[in-house]
Amino acid sequence: MRISSPKMNTIYKACMKASRSLIRDFGEIEKLQVSSKGPGDFVSAADKKSEEIIIEELLKAHPTYGILSEEVGVINKDNKENRWIIDPIDGTLNFLNGIPQFAISIGYEEKGEIVCGIIFDPIKDEMFFAEKGSGAFLNNSRIRVSNKKKLKESILVTGGPKYASKKRDNIFQEYIKISNIVDAPIRKFGSAALDIANVSCGRFDGYWQWELNYWDIAAGIIILKEAGGYVDFPGENTNMSIKKNVIATNSKIHQELTANLIEKNIE
Ligand code: IPD
Ligand code: CA
Ligand code: CA
Repeated sequence: MRISSPKMNTIYKACMKASRSLIRDFGEIEKLQVSSKGPGDFVSAADKKSEEIIIEELLKAHPTYGILSEEVGVINKDNKENRWIIDPIDGTLNFLNGIPQFAISIGYEEKGEIVCGIIFDPIKDEMFFAEKGSGAFLNNSRIRVSNKKKLKESILVTGGPKYASKKRDNIFQEYIKISNIVDAPIRKFGSAALDIANVSCGRFDGYWQWELNYWDIAAGIIILKEAGGYVDFPGENTNMSIKKNVIATNSKIHQELTANLIEKNIE
């Protein structure tokens, strides 16, 4: 693994430590599926445990850095120059149901820009990582986005909508609209972090999803960019907002995908 900088090393260590705990807990899920209580409480405890381990490691290395993490929210809120953005389990619903498609996602932001990050799938043992200017990697290999140029021939992935989404109906209409353009059925895997990671290594050509949170995709931003892809956040999201609409592609189909997404969903 070509983890070179001290920052990446810190993220790597936090990620590996949390993943050992997650793998153990994932192994328990199957037993809990059949228990009368179900795995709900256990999973939220696993989520919190993973987060605690990550935060402890990151604060040990840099006690004054800011943190934005899904469960605990904000730590060291006055430090806006250096910030870790953490999702301790992305793909919780999969984790809860024993489906091996989830990841730890940790991004590092400097002056508002994500400059390095890791997305780690502990079950497949796939670590996606990138640092600004140094390319993107999956384990020991350099990764690049695909070369597909036509939306029609692309493999796309999306996610959502959440049950409570006000755009629910529009999002379903949009799904039908895009499905009628592409030859291959649209994929839905339930982990935004892995969806972007998989665009970065060329498994998918494009991904879009509305109403995500920043921690779902923060690390994915730098991994995709360094792999030659393009990501933008259409609509009213400012740089600082936590809510994000995301279009992430191999860059070649970006314009065509964007043009075909329903405008009122983007607003
Ligand atoms: C979720 C996953 C999922 C996406 C949801 C997210 P979580 O994150 O990324 O793919 O569709 O919108 O909330 O809750 O599993 O961390
Ligand atoms: Ca998430
Ligand atoms: Ca999560």
